[in-house]
Amino acid sequence: MFVCICKGVREKQIRREVQRGATTFEELQMSLDVGICCGQCEETAKALIDETLDQERALDAMTHCQYQQA
Ligand code: FES
Repeated sequence: MFVCICKGVREKQIRREVQRGATTFEELQMSLDVGICCGQCEETAKALIDETLDQERALDAMTHCQYQQA
């Protein structure tokens, strides 16, 4: 699914950037050019950042628990 039509940025590209360490919309603007034209995608991109960060934290917590149980 395209998040940023102006720059052709897809959801999976944003998720990948967050998984590689991006935590802010500004970082995504620099790496993917998302949101640098009309700005209509900003809210969606920010929500995607938050959602992906939450998923990453949950995965980290699960992994941490598995190591403690082993
Ligand atoms: S839709 Fe992303 S800048 Fe226009």
